[in-house]
Parts: sequence; C-alpha cells; structure tokens
Amino acid sequence: MEKIRVAIIGIGNCASALIQGMEYYGNKNREKTSEGMMAENIGGYTASDIEVVAAFDVDKRKVGQTLDKAIYAKPNCTINIIDPALFPKSNVVVEKGHILDGVSEHMKNYPEDNTFVVDYDTEPVDIVKRLKETKADILINYLPVGSEQAAKFYAQCAIDSGVAFLNCMPVFIASNPEWEAKFIKAGLPIIGDDMKSQFGASILSQMLQELAFARGHKVKCHIQENVGGNTDFLNMLNTSRLASKKISKENVIRCQHDIRGLDPNESFLYAGPSNYISYYKDNKIATFHLELEGFGGSPVVFDARLSVFDSPNSAGVVIDAIRYLKVARELGITGSLHGASAFTQKTPPFPMTFEDAQYECHKLANRELTELTKKQVRK
Ligand SMILES: NC(=O)c1ccc[n+]([C@@H]2O[C@H](COP(=O)([O-])OP(=O)(O)OC[C@H]3O[C@@H](n4cnc5c(N)ncnc54)[C@H](O)[C@@H]3O)[C@@H](O)[C@H]2O)c1
Repeated sequence: MEKIRVAIIGIGNCASALIQGMEYYGNKNREKTSEGMMAENIGGYTASDIEVVAAFDVDKRKVGQTLDKAIYAKPNCTINIIDPALFPKSNVVVEKGHILDGVSEHMKNYPEDNTFVVDYDTEPVDIVKRLKETKADILINYLPVGSEQAAKFYAQCAIDSGVAFLNCMPVFIASNPEWEAKFIKAGLPIIGDDMKSQFGASILSQMLQELAFARGHKVKCHIQENVGGNTDFLNMLNTSRLASKKISKENVIRCQHDIRGLDPNESFLYAGPSNYISYYKDNKIATFHLELEGFGGSPVVFDARLSVFDSPNSAGVVIDAIRYLKVARELGITGSLHGASAFTQKTPPFPMTFEDAQYECHKLANRELTELTKKQVRK
C-alpha cells in the first residue's frame, strides 16, 4: 500500500499521543498486536502506513524543532507511550503556523510550563505551498477550542491545496453545509467535528443514554462534568471560547433524543468542561449523573466516575479516521463522511446511533459503498 501522508496543525498533547501511537503500533520489530486499537486494518491500511509529512505550530518551544523533540516539548504533558530517548529522529521540522485567534489572551497569566509561549519572531509559512510540496493527503486540525478564524483559515488551505480535512475540534466545518459544499466542489472528503474519544466521556454518555432508551426509560436528567489539567482545559477557562465546546459535548446526548423523535428540551441535559486543575495534567476526570424513570414511573439514579488520559484516548479514534479518509478519497467519496464522523466525532453532520455509525465504518473499511456513501461518489 502507498503511505498515507498527513500534515498536522497544532503539535499539542493530542498530536503527541497520535504520533507516539503511530510509532508504537507501526514498529515492525514489536510483537504484532493491535491491542488497544479499534481497528487493525482499514481498507488495507494499518498504523504503519501513516506518516507525518508536515507539522505546524506557533509555540517557540516547538517551531523549528524536529517532530521527535516537539511532541515532548512543554507544555505537552501527556503520558509517554514511547520513551523520548528511544523515539527515532524525525526529518520533519515543525513550521510556523498562522496565529490568528489560536491563542487566548488569558493563557499569558500562567506559568510557562503549563501554557503556550508564542513565537512572534518567526514568519509564518505559506501553508498551501507546503501542503502541495509535501504531497499531503490529509490535514489534521488540532487547534485550541475557540480558534474560529484559524480553523477556517486552515480548512480553506486544505481545500486550496486539494487535501482532505480531519477536524478534531469544535469549530463547525464538516457539520456546516456551506463548508461541506466547498469540500464537495473540491472533490475532497472531510471528517468532523470535535473528536469523540475511544473510551471517553462522550461515548459513555451516548451509550448510557442509548441503553436507557432501548430499555424503555425516560431520561429526566443527564449531567456530565469534566475536570483536567492540560492546556485544552486551561484554554477553556476563557468562557468566551467555550460556547462551541459545550454545544458539541451536549450534542452527543441531545442527538440521542433527536434520533428517536423525542424533545431534548423535556430533559435536563448538561455536558461540559467544569474546571482546570494543573495537577491532573493530561488525566481527565469525568462524572456522570443520570436520573431516569423506569417501569411504572419508578426512579433510577446512576452516578459514575471515569478517569482517563485524554490525549491517547483521542488518538485511538484519529488513527482510524485518517484511514477512513484515505479510503474514501480512493473510492471517490466527497463531502462529510457521515458514518465515520458519527463514529469518531461529537458533532457529525447527521446524528446516528452507535450501531448505524459502526455499520458505515465497517463498510468503508471493506471498501464497500452503502446507500449513504453511494450518493457521495464523485460523478
Ligand atoms: N481527548 C481529547 O484530548 C480531545 C477530545 C476532543 C477534542 N479535542 C480537541 O482537540 C484540540 C487539540 O487538543 P490538545 O489537547 O492537543 O490541545 P493542546 O493545547 O495540547 O494543543 C494545541 C496546539 O495548538 C498550537 N496552536 C495554537 N494556535 C495555533 C495556530 N494558530 N496555528 C498552529 N498551531 C497553533 C499550540 O501551540 C498547541 O501546541 C482541542 O481543540 C481539543 O478541545 C481533544
């Protein structure tokens, strides 16, 4: 198989976990096992078929560094999947991206080890030119929440350079019909918006809610709160940047009502980041509180607590989404990939049940078209 050539915007914790994971699962010397991955083979592609060909950031501790150094540079704080001393030297150097609204003012008020330190000295590179020169297939967007202008700028760069887009954060692009139309016009597929991690709070909320409905229960209230200590959580302390994240997180539970023709406003639904505690670093703590009504109106109360490492948890879906995009490109599918987006993202273009989204993914992994994807094949 040919390599899948990815370019990455934002070499933060999620990029670090993804790149370390690619090395971990792609290492030919390692005993062959895909334990911890959702899919070993997607359309003939495994983890070792993915390679990073370009990387962009704005932090002075990352710009100008080779990728093997940049992924471990502060303020990144995710766990080491690979010991930094053993990570092979990369020939990709992190290039200066376009700052735009990527960095919130309040980030300046925190210790350098915990926050972004912007490089104002280096000139930004021409992204379209670099994507073309490096022959990238896919551009992955890992910008901080609230980077509305920057996310749209990079999405347009993907379109202008003929590169598919994987939108891992909550600026609505794949789920926005106007943006989807631009990708269709350019003959490109897109997955988004905002990753739904492998075993994270969102997929757990979705499954709990699906279970409640499948077992005939009414959901009176569903509250999901999240606390973490990485820069993603620090950035979200600025509540003016938070609106899209809350919409996206709540979308996961609201859309379960929509799918079944129920009015989400009849239940109390809340999901969002609730605090930043630096001590936790990349460890996220999520709590769930559900109040249901069962047989004869009898009350059911469910409380649970999840502790996960946020970034590897997200990399576990991105390593699949990259391969779905590549296969879709090869099959000539354009626009938002409905099944793969619903499976890997919080705000897909259309809500789907877990089962329906998984079916679409299985078909794509086998290079088979479905009723949905047939309509999206370029004429
Ligand atoms: N489980 C998860 O961690 C998870 C799940 C869903 C969504 N997300 C979203 O993914 C995104 C990335 O998360 P993360 O934890 O890697 O964040 P992070 O803060 O660790 O990384 C963001 C990176 O972007 C860089 N950056 C900022 N402005 C930039 C610009 N204009 N151009 C290029 N680079 C820029 C920063 O320097 C930093 O390296 C966030 O929006 C987050 O909400 C994460």
